[in-house]
Amino acid sequence: MSFKLFCTRAIASHIGVGSRIGFDATSSLWLKAGYATKTINLTSTTYPNTHRNPDFAKVSNSDVLFFRSIVGDNQVLTDDLDAYNEDWMRKYKGQSKVVLKPKTTEQISQLLRYCNQHKLAVVPQGGNTGLVGGSVPVFDEIVISIANMNKVRSFDEASGMFKADAGVILENADGYLAEHDHIFPLDLGAKGSCFIGGNVATNAGGLRLLRYGSLHGSVLGLEAVLPDGTIYDSMHSLRKDNTGYDLKQLFIGSEGTIGIITGVSILCPARPKSVNVAFLGLESYEQVQETFKKARNELCEVLSAFEFMDRGSQVFASRFLKMAHPLSPDDENEVPEYPFYVLIEVAGSKKEHDDEKLESFLESVMEDGTVADGVVSQDESQLRTLWKWRESVSEASTIDGGVYKYDVSLPLPKMYSLVETVRKQLGERQLMSQEDTGMPVVDAIGYGHVGDGNLHLNVCVREYNKKVETALEPFVYEQVQKERGSISAEHGLGFQKKHYIQYSKSPVEIQMIKDLKKHYDPNGIMNPYKYI
Ligand code: FAD
Ligand code: MLT
Ligand code: ZN
Repeated sequence: MSFKLFCTRAIASHIGVGSRIGFDATSSLWLKAGYATKTINLTSTTYPNTHRNPDFAKVSNSDVLFFRSIVGDNQVLTDDLDAYNEDWMRKYKGQSKVVLKPKTTEQISQLLRYCNQHKLAVVPQGGNTGLVGGSVPVFDEIVISIANMNKVRSFDEASGMFKADAGVILENADGYLAEHDHIFPLDLGAKGSCFIGGNVATNAGGLRLLRYGSLHGSVLGLEAVLPDGTIYDSMHSLRKDNTGYDLKQLFIGSEGTIGIITGVSILCPARPKSVNVAFLGLESYEQVQETFKKARNELCEVLSAFEFMDRGSQVFASRFLKMAHPLSPDDENEVPEYPFYVLIEVAGSKKEHDDEKLESFLESVMEDGTVADGVVSQDESQLRTLWKWRESVSEASTIDGGVYKYDVSLPLPKMYSLVETVRKQLGERQLMSQEDTGMPVVDAIGYGHVGDGNLHLNVCVREYNKKVETALEPFVYEQVQKERGSISAEHGLGFQKKHYIQYSKSPVEIQMIKDLKKHYDPNGIMNPYKYI
């Protein structure tokens, strides 16, 4: 086979350029997974074994008066709170009666000090795009939204150091940096809605971790407020600092359990001048791995993303996007029969050089039969379209009513077998059918960040259903434990995995985490019923 097969196909006409699917990039509001179940049961009803902690006080009128005195009447919300109580998947629903929207770190400090003294539980909330039920209350916890803290503080072009309030929307941060020829070192499908503080709080991974690494490396400083109101200010620009424990790391991935992040200082790379994307069809998961191996060897420094999707995930994306598949441009309803698809992005500084590298790589994997088919984007809008077939899988998975999500780290060779094992389990229990609408599960699909050893297993359901959940949990976590993987590669523990951390952490590790939590949050007011 020759490289000619990669020439542009007629996909340009299907392209809908715009922001990320499902999100309103112009404001901090987010559009929920459009198709998921319309009514959401209260979390406390779905999970009756979780009880409200009686040590927590209930919000009184005098509390509300105090909050108003700190943040102003308009920033204390007591009506129409569904957007703050309900999560993106429409799986969890809390019963908060009060949402606070402070504008400064000092206000957050006063609010937390008061809540701590009065034993009022709180939930820090960013863009509310979290996928583990961590961003919404379970009972009547007060929501502290950081949406009003949305200013860029500074940017230094020489070093690439970007400092901003934690409530800046990721896409806005990246847009600001683009004007200065830099890029935010994190990108994900929810970028039009999630906040950089939420990204740090969840230690989000995203689509280019392969290139830019984890936030544990790129975040150089943080500002955060501890539950007692203490302001921890370490908004450094230092790349090297070996004086004592690296405290900011405690907040990265802490999911709102030990404090509220109010400022982020992060090292941003120069924006690549040329970006190109190839979308490939493959006959087996072994070939996905082989293609990854070759891509790492041959594309080296220009490889910026390597994502895979199984056919099931493309079927959902096709139903959602309602456009012709990149590898089947002439038929809007057809997803080709390849069992696996790979999206490869290259990004560099010299277009001819980068294109040449990609072309010769593609020629070699086509010629030796590792890859069966593929297309390469020819311009920016085609590039966006190809990305849509990867990024939309998240929202597309909810199209029939809901989704049970698992985001696991596994050794690469074992990664996809988890999907097959789960499909078997659901089949044996007679819970899954694409045709029979009486069955709760439509399909179990797999996709994810091959470059990071991170599989997303989505069990797409017609409704949230206890039988399905019991078939999946702890079953999925047991499978992951057997391979010494992690039950959360990127979405975190939240409410969903609070009782399952032992599948990834030892008793000693769990005790150390509990000790830290107790030390910083002795009253347990920060995001209770979650994490640990
Ligand atoms: P929220 O959802 O509001 O909060 C998440 C958690 O962080 C909660 O526990 C909350 O209490 C806490 N928190 C939020 N802000 C603060 C703060 N300032 N201080 C302390 N705690 C805080 N995740 C990935 O890792 N990779 C992906 O590729 C990815 N893609 C996604 C695609 C879609 C379509 C969606 C809906 C979600 C995706 N996510 C992904 C999950 C999600 O973790 C990220 O969207 C994001 O990091 C969450 O940010 P947020 O501002 O929405 O936080
Ligand atoms: C992704 O990689 O698309 C995200 O982590 C979100 C998801 O899996 O839904
Ligand atoms: Zn992901």
